Amino acid sequence: MTIALDQLANSDDSTSGTGLFATIAEDLLARGYSINPRALPGGLANDLLQHLHAMSAQQFVPAGIGREQEHMLNRQVRKDEICWINGESDAGRRWLAWAGELRAYLNRRLFLGLFSFESHFAHYPPGGFYRRHLDAFKGESNRIVSLVAYLNPDWQPGDGGELVLYPEEIDTGALRISPALGTVAVFLSEEFEHEVLPAGRDRFSIAGWYRVNSSTAGRADPPR
Ligand code: OGA
Ligand code: MN
Repeated sequence: MTIALDQLANSDDSTSGTGLFATIAEDLLARGYSINPRALPGGLANDLLQHLHAMSAQQFVPAGIGREQEHMLNRQVRKDEICWINGESDAGRRWLAWAGELRAYLNRRLFLGLFSFESHFAHYPPGGFYRRHLDAFKGESNRIVSLVAYLNPDWQPGDGGELVLYPEEIDTGALRISPALGTVAVFLSEEFEHEVLPAGRDRFSIAGWYRVNSSTAGRADPPR
């Protein structure tokens, strides 16, 4: 796959965002979500882009496929393909380290007791979407906080593919977030319905979830 590498976020890695982490914690406390353009450290965004560039299409698998008979239904809910990040690549390890720093920070500041983190690259081909959903249903999953980072240089308003977040308060309209390179979205997994509008061109993101360690979560997670 071809990804333009010309426009990279240029924030400084050395400030790997104590300021950003503080903003995310304050936002989560005040309203349960936090949207941050140009937030991913520039060097990390660069590494992740180069890694995506080098990955072959075969490493991505259609998302949300469980049993065979669920396949058709799933494709009406979401049409994207994913690749789990397990730390096999340098860029993947750096991403996991950054997400781990944020986890430690949120635990210190908000006493969330976040225990683990899982994440995957997602590729939405032209026409790809993900209908309105929750990442976790109350009491049925141990996903607590969702983290999404976007990896699309030069994303234009007409390119579609926005993340739409639906806050519960009636007076707050839906929020539309452009999947521009470096934007980081964080929200409470059980609280915020959201969707991905059809993408006009190839759209890349990383979606991840912080979990609490719940041995009683005996049921499978809702479709991802
Ligand atoms: C998800 C998801 C949002 C996005 O994978 O659950 O909602 O903007 N992703 O990629
Ligand atoms: Mn989601």
